Amino acid sequence: MERTPETRAELPVLPVHVAIIMDGNGRWAQQRGLPRVMGHQKGTETVRVVKDTCLDLKIPYLTLYAFSRENWKRPKAEIEFLMNLLDRYLDSEMEGLAKEGVRFRTIGDLTSLHPRIQDKINALKARTERNTLLHLTLALNYGARQEILQAVKRFSKNALEAGSSAVDKINALDVKIFEQFLDTAGIPDPDLLIRTSGEMRLSNFLLWQCSYSEIYVSDKMWPDFGREDFVRALREFAERERRYGAVS
Ligand code: IPE
Ligand code: IPE
Ligand code: MG
Repeated sequence: MERTPETRAELPVLPVHVAIIMDGNGRWAQQRGLPRVMGHQKGTETVRVVKDTCLDLKIPYLTLYAFSRENWKRPKAEIEFLMNLLDRYLDSEMEGLAKEGVRFRTIGDLTSLHPRIQDKINALKARTERNTLLHLTLALNYGARQEILQAVKRFSKNALEAGSSAVDKINALDVKIFEQFLDTAGIPDPDLLIRTSGEMRLSNFLLWQCSYSEIYVSDKMWPDFGREDFVRALREFAERERRYGAVS
């Protein structure tokens, strides 16, 4: 992967955390008369391109929506293909990610995944847990509403365990404390949320965390989304004025 210091110079403001809804794999394939799953296969190349660009530009957090809670509604064969693809991705990336300084993380409920895949995920997490250059988070069997509910349950149990001071814990609950119970605890909120394929919706992705994210929609299908497209999104991000409710 070529280094592009000039790109950094033209991007005075870079996001700390980029989150991406990788969409349009199926349509990419269908437009070419291929089975939908070929788009998923091709899409893994884009995952590498985006990950390498983050490493090159020193963007420290990248979160990718790989499989939603709602994606279980898809045909069994497509789900199986996606799971096998994940399995192979974990095998092929293990060494590379570890050497590149990438810390691998996940959000979402892994317990519904095949035990073999869970083992590989845990191995990759353990192998890379000391890495800090890029926190690469895959959202797997992820749904934001379910994540928030899960956080409420975790918090409630934690408060109940406090016995007589449970009410104090509930009264003291604030945004910062609540965030510690989300799957994304320790990960800053996304500064930039990208969705490919032109769809303008969140599809149950990071509903809490994207409260103040800058949204960028690309018309490109995910397999066609290249380094130039990613840099175009970053360039637009650099020009946005983030006001957080205040006046400029
Ligand atoms: C995104 O591409 C990948 C996943 C949701 C796993 P899609 O499979 O949603 O592709 P389209 O949106 O049908 O084209
Ligand atoms: C969102 O894409 C999920 C992922 C990218 C993993 P979908 O293709 O599933 O979303 P909808 O169905 O168009 O909202
Ligand atoms: Mg889609």
